[in-house]
Amino acid sequence: MKLNKPLNVSIAGLEFNSPLILASGILGVSPPTMHILADYGMGGITTKSIGPVKRKGYPNPSIIGLGNDTFLNAVGLANPGIERFSHEITEIKKKEGLVVIVSVFGDNSNDFARTASLAEKAGADAIEINISCPHAEVSSIGVDPKITFEYVRAVKKAIHCPLFVKLTPNVTDIVKIGMSAEKAGADALVAINTVSGLAIDINTHRPILAHGIGGLSGRAIKPIGVRHVFNLSKAVSIPIIGCGGIFNYEDVLEYFLAGASAVQLGSCLYYGYDIITQIRDNLIRYLETRKLDSISQLTGLAHHYKEIGFDD
Ligand SMILES: Cc1cc2nc3c(=O)[nH]c(=O)nc-3n(C[C@H](O)[C@H](O)[C@H](O)COP(=O)(O)O)c2cc1C
Repeated sequence: MKLNKPLNVSIAGLEFNSPLILASGILGVSPPTMHILADYGMGGITTKSIGPVKRKGYPNPSIIGLGNDTFLNAVGLANPGIERFSHEITEIKKKEGLVVIVSVFGDNSNDFARTASLAEKAGADAIEINISCPHAEVSSIGVDPKITFEYVRAVKKAIHCPLFVKLTPNVTDIVKIGMSAEKAGADALVAINTVSGLAIDINTHRPILAHGIGGLSGRAIKPIGVRHVFNLSKAVSIPIIGCGGIFNYEDVLEYFLAGASAVQLGSCLYYGYDIITQIRDNLIRYLETRKLDSISQLTGLAHHYKEIGFDD
């Protein structure tokens, strides 16, 4: 595969040949699908969140469209369990030039650590911990700096590869959580997971999703993600991977300017895989037009603006 030099990024020592990474839980995790994504321009993939044992998830309806490229889901972390999934990791890893990030979760910090360790043994290049899904039990971890520290520390001790921590926007101050994760040894942060939300059927008078509360994704959440990346990047020195509402190359650039070093694509894949190639090619064109050698030169540039004071 042709390497797109201006789009090469390095995160925690891992070299990505594109800053576009598949977000967790968006597509199935079959190795052929993951391999095709690399051909369309993804530099890395994040697997569905995998737990220590098989989990069925919530009944349908588990995802609904709300219009304007915005979705609400409560899939409930359905997954086959790490023992069965290990083989898939090894298969996905066979694609040259594709960075494989395995998202893990569990019922306690030992579960997280054991699942992460098995995923690494199966071939994961990095582990991402899901402490942020708003409709599952893990949501209680990523809202508390002390608990976040405990979980990050436990996983960090169990693995040798880089550790990414995926943060929730459903907190008063995401910066405190991000700083705590960094202190505990996180190698990068991923911001953001879905925004907690609820949709109600006016005819049945009940929540539409079987689980009730869900996580909002898609176009509507982009400004929330960009804002959180902006604030986090002022406070931490580890790289940040932006996620939430990216549908075109301009969205990617916004995340970079806010402080991201790479991005994850989720809901936009509703439009098919061609969108990945379009975003990639438009990013290259943007950089060429502005005579920039690398997309990394844009990281955090929006921090140089001066806030306009009321008494000026
Ligand atoms: C159907 C669905 C399932 C998801 N499953 C997971 C998951 O298993 N683990 C996780 O960390 N995030 C999960 N997410 C969150 C996404 O990875 C991403 O953070 C979120 O959708 C925001 O990005 P987007 O607006 O580009 O979709 C899921 C999102 C959707 C829509």
